[in-house]
Amino acid sequence: MKPSELEGTLQRLGFTENSIVEIIMITTNLDGSYNPAPMGVIKTGDHLEVRPFTTSNTYRNLTRNSLASINLTTDPFLFLKTAFKHELSDGASISELSLRGSDATIVVEKVGEDVFSSSQASVILRPNRVVIHNDSPTVYSRGRAMAIEAIIHATRVPVYQSRGDEAKVESLLRNMRYCFDVISRVSEVDSPEMQVADSLRTLLAKWGVSI
Ligand SMILES: Cc1cc2nc3c(=O)[nH]c(=O)nc-3n(C[C@H](O)[C@H](O)[C@H](O)COP(=O)(O)O)c2cc1C
Repeated sequence: MKPSELEGTLQRLGFTENSIVEIIMITTNLDGSYNPAPMGVIKTGDHLEVRPFTTSNTYRNLTRNSLASINLTTDPFLFLKTAFKHELSDGASISELSLRGSDATIVVEKVGEDVFSSSQASVILRPNRVVIHNDSPTVYSRGRAMAIEAIIHATRVPVYQSRGDEAKVESLLRNMRYCFDVISRVSEVDSPEMQVADSLRTLLAKWGVSI
């Protein structure tokens, strides 16, 4: 794919620069069967990066075979089935590196590898081809989900504050701290979700609540 074409396609699919989104990666096992596993993926320029644990099948497969795919879905069942494929009987169906039921498949090729941490590698992937299976495919972003979750909790703060229910307010703030923590780990500094977190902090301060 040409870089300009790729940039537009990735943006339309919901990728933003340097933020982690959740996808299902398919690699090929030694015996030729497919191995699906949920992974976080980060777009950096015209490449994608995954950080598999070096103990995972995904990592082992990527060291042997550089061709893989990134499948976009927001279906929790697909994440469940592929995360626990050895524990659950209802497996995922895959054909030619495409995960059945996913919204889009990006066929990628491993072009580099580095150490991310003592237990995770950083694998750099070049997108070769995008196959759209559904009219409006979009990546699942924990950062965006957490921003909306934090807004829901925030709407309840003034309600319980006006009732003088300190315990409930504290429990909502705990939930919001968790959301903000996830956002700070997966999203870019100037991402919409980070801006939402900042606005919510300002609102809480206005209500006299410290988080
Ligand atoms: C949404 C989601 C994101 C995940 N992200 C990663 C990741 O970035 N790196 C990783 O090694 N495991 C990640 N995991 C866990 C793996 O999917 C899980 O350990 C899986 O069983 C690994 O399978 P494999 O050994 O076949 O590669 C994630 C799981 C979920 C549900």
